[in-house]
Amino acid sequence: MIPRISLNDATSIPQLGYGLHRVDPAQAQRLVETALELGYRHLDTAHIYGNEEAVGRAIAASGIPRDELYVTTKLWNDRHSDAPGALAASLEALGLDRVDLYLIHWPRPAQGLYLDAWKAMIDLRAEGLTTSIGVSNFQLEHIAKLENETDVTPAINQVELHPLFQRWRDIDAMRVHGTAIEGWAPLGGGYYDLADYPEITDAAERHGVTPAQVVLRWHLQNNVIIFPKTNSPERMRENLDLFGFELSQDEVAAIVSLDEEEFGRQGPHPDDYEQE
Ligand SMILES: NC(=O)c1ccc[n+]([C@@H]2O[C@H](COP(=O)([O-])OP(=O)(O)OC[C@H]3O[C@@H](n4cnc5c(N)ncnc54)[C@H](OP(=O)(O)O)[C@@H]3O)[C@@H](O)[C@H]2O)c1
Repeated sequence: MIPRISLNDATSIPQLGYGLHRVDPAQAQRLVETALELGYRHLDTAHIYGNEEAVGRAIAASGIPRDELYVTTKLWNDRHSDAPGALAASLEALGLDRVDLYLIHWPRPAQGLYLDAWKAMIDLRAEGLTTSIGVSNFQLEHIAKLENETDVTPAINQVELHPLFQRWRDIDAMRVHGTAIEGWAPLGGGYYDLADYPEITDAAERHGVTPAQVVLRWHLQNNVIIFPKTNSPERMRENLDLFGFELSQDEVAAIVSLDEEEFGRQGPHPDDYEQE
């Protein structure tokens, strides 16, 4: 049974899901069908991933009641001034009349439109087109601006988070304000090999699990919401099988010690990512 995390808008989200970044649209329907068969109920996609239509076909084919699924999509950087139009297009592609969570994908601060996008998203939530609203890759100051101007705190901030890149001070500050944290690239995004770190492999050996399972379990014990991506049904199964063991406090701390702070960042810095 996958635990749920309570959000600041009185809803909740399954803590574990399946992520669709870099999932080829031509394969996405089959992969999502497999994920749903294996028990995943939370899907994380985005307009920019190009696979919303395939995700929608898999949802329709699954026959799973809509209220048993949790679907997230994201507003891309070139649509900050037209969140309603962008969400309408995403809903059409997904074949849904609402998503569970709509996120501003990046703040794109130099463009200066994320506050406008946020105000529009508040209205989209009121219209029932998305149940929850949140942000992704937002820094503390970006969230503070949304709060100060609208009094609506994002339910979620989805940020890069993995053993080599941890930001617990910022995360704690966001949580104090009521924003739950989703960790993207929870396994490091494939940019480095988890098996290179004895802090991870020793724990894996002790518990008879894989390095990936140790790291995913570490996120869960840190109350982080995750959705590892894989093209492999075997790994999908493995990434779901996290509830038969528990890391000790020392094992959790050993992984915390791997943090390389800014050197460990694999993706772009949110302050200067302006890509359209
Ligand atoms: N908001 C954002 O800006 C943002 C950015 C990036 C990602 N995301 C979201 O976060 C999700 C997860 O992040 P991510 O896809 O970048 O990275 P990730 O889930 O950390 O890592 C995916 C990589 O790990 C491999 N992998 C998966 N399961 C494994 C296992 N059990 N053992 C060994 N290797 C394994 C995958 O390879 P195979 O596929 O070959 O198995 C792939 O190379 C995305 O899919 C997306 O939904 C959001």
